[in-house]
Order: sequence, then structure tokens, then C-alpha cells
Amino acid sequence: MLDLLIHNATLPDGRTNMSVAVQSGRIVEVTQGLQVPAAETLDAGGLLLSPPFVDAHFHLDGTLTYGMPRINQSGTLLEGIALWGELKPSLTVDAIIERALTYCDWAVAQGLLAIRSHVDTSDPRLLGVQALLEVQKRVAPYIDLQLVAFPQDGVLRTPGGLDSLQRALDLGVDVVGGIPHFERTMADGATSVKLLCEIAAARGKMVDMHCDESDDPHSRHIESLAYETQRLGLHGRVTGSHLTSMHSMDNYYVSKLIALMAEAQVHVASNPCVNITLQGRFDTYPKRRGLTRVPELMAAGLTVAFGQDDMMDPWYALGSADMLEVASMGLHVAQMTSQAAMCQCFDAITTNPARILGLQGYGLEKGCHADFVLLQARDPVEALRLKATRLKVFKRGKLLAQTPARTAALNLPGRPAQTSFLHAK
Ligand code: FE2
Repeated sequence: MLDLLIHNATLPDGRTNMSVAVQSGRIVEVTQGLQVPAAETLDAGGLLLSPPFVDAHFHLDGTLTYGMPRINQSGTLLEGIALWGELKPSLTVDAIIERALTYCDWAVAQGLLAIRSHVDTSDPRLLGVQALLEVQKRVAPYIDLQLVAFPQDGVLRTPGGLDSLQRALDLGVDVVGGIPHFERTMADGATSVKLLCEIAAARGKMVDMHCDESDDPHSRHIESLAYETQRLGLHGRVTGSHLTSMHSMDNYYVSKLIALMAEAQVHVASNPCVNITLQGRFDTYPKRRGLTRVPELMAAGLTVAFGQDDMMDPWYALGSADMLEVASMGLHVAQMTSQAAMCQCFDAITTNPARILGLQGYGLEKGCHADFVLLQARDPVEALRLKATRLKVFKRGKLLAQTPARTAALNLPGRPAQTSFLHAK
């Protein structure tokens, strides 16, 4: 007998009336109208069953620190970094763990079951690293948490920065990070990219660098990252995060750059909520959006994900672990409004980041882990439109979280008694 049988589900690829059968934490069948005995059955009512959301770019060590010790007045990346520096002396391992666990509670409730989090390695005490390695262990039953050694203050600019980063990797941090645009010079930035990619190659690690997070049209660190990826044979294992300068670059140069990125199979993590907030701050009008060229990168065959990046921290006051909100922002800012492009935005918070993280057994196919989310929406576009309620969140076939359906009671003459905002087809 099956452990769980879900029937009458719609899948993100458009298949309807689908049954998903679960045994021992795995999907053992995905087919139409399956009728077999199961310990538990669930009627999806024609609603969307999706693989869980995945966030390819987050900072779990800073989350929920908004206002500590003060609020970012200019709204810029640089004041955020300075503010994080003011906050660091008062950080404790226990407080970081507690805030991160709270965020992970919210993530599960939102159907977000895999997160790549950067962790600052600039402080030689490595408090964030200690805290997030502990969090990684504690949340392992419900969240795949991947950690990136991130030298927030610059791996070369910070005294001992390279040593601290290497020690974080020794302690078990999974991925090599970097921030070349924050090094002292463009040349130092390029040197940092080379050094960090060489470390990743020597250790067999993936790379995920904050890269060109500025409005500077002449920033060239993604070019260096693509070059080093190609030189060291790191194809498919390297991610460029943010790449906001690409928004402002010369179009001819970008036509060459995207081809180099595609050749090196560099992945892209774009962070729409934070990019639209932090970038363009030195503009008057017109004010640049600062989002990287998402549709063009996707059209070139690159894997592009949308990330949350920050939530209630020195850089961003809002957020709620809601990847549908993140994708909706990306959709609007990048003007990805065709049906196909909106579906690509849904992929950018599910299958694309799963590929970037290298998740095994992800998806709604026979043999995959039984991890999925039932959404109060009939298709991915409706899910984006409504930031759909996560009715039920499953991991390995076990129910982790559930939220009541969103319904408003109405008292209107000659109108229905309630509405749930779903569009009748
Ligand atoms: Fe970031």
C-alpha cells in the first residue's frame, strides 16, 4: 500500500488531473487518474502541485536584524555594508542561530525548502560560520541549506580575509564566495576572482560570487569570472550573483559578454526585490532599474534564478521568505509579461535554482524525493498573480506545514457569499 496518494492535481507543466503516488519518501508514480490504496489520500481539487521553492541567494546570518543598531538612511548597498560592520561587534552565535531558525520556520510555511545562504567570513572569529553550520545541522530534516563562504568586506581588502575564508571552508562551508566590486581597485577585484576560483578548483567546490553589484557600466568582474571558469574547467559549477552592472553596460559589449558566460556555463542569481531597491540610488531621473538582463540571459541558454537576498536586515526592510513575491518583482521589473516569460519566472524560483544548488532528486517525476507544495492557484501564472497561499507543504511525503485557504466572506446584494480570487476557467 502507498503512504500517500494525491489525486486531481495540476502540475506546473500544465498536465491536469494528475495523481502523484508516494512510498517511503519518494515519488513512485506520476500519472493521470491513478486508483490504488494508500494510507493517506489528498484531493488537490485541480489546484497546482509544485516542487518546493528554492532560493539561490540569501544571507541567513543577517536576517531579522533590521534596525540594529540603526536603519539604513541612504538605502544604498554601501551604507548597508557599513551598517553591517557596525552591527558585527554585538553579534552572538546564539542570536544568529535563533534568528536564522525563525527565518527557516517562515521558509517552510512558504514552501521554501532549499536555500543557498552566504555567510560572512570577514570577521576572524567566524561567528556567523559557527552559527550557520549549526543551523544547517538543525534544519537538515526540513531544509536543504547550502552555505557560501562570503568575504563581505573584500577577501583582499580585509586583513587576513583569505585565511578566514579558507578556515570557513575547512569547517565545512560548501561554496566559495567573493565580492570583487568591493575590493580596492578593479585590478584587485580581478585578482580576487582568480584566487577564489583557484581555491574552488583545488578543493572541488562550487563558486558563487557577488559580482558587479553596482550601476557602474565599466565593471568587468563577471567577464573575469567567466574567464576563470573557462580556464579552470569549472563549467556549470559557478554562479554570478546580482550582475546589476550589466543593466547599465554598453549593448555591444554585453553581446560579447553573454556569449562568454554561455560558453563557461556560468549560472546567474538575480535578486529583484533588493536590486530594484539598492540600485539607481545615485541617479536622479531617469532612474535605472539595476536588474541584470534576465530575459536575454535566459534566451542565451543560461540558468537564471531569482533570489530573496535579504529580509529585514541592513539592506532590505521587507520580505517574508515568499519566493512568489520575489519572482513577481522580477517579472515586473524585467517586463517578463508574456505567458511563456511568466512561466520562466516560476522556473526561476523552482527548477533553475535547484540546478544551481545541484539538488539531487528534485522535481515531480517518478523517483524524485516526495517534496512538493500544494498552492491555492490553478497554474504558475495564477500562483504568481496571487502570491498563492501554500495550502500544504510536504517533505519526503510528510506534511510539514499547512495554511488555511484564503477566502473573503462577502455581504453584497446579488453577489456570491465569498471569493477566493481564483479565476474561473
Ligand atoms: Fe547578496
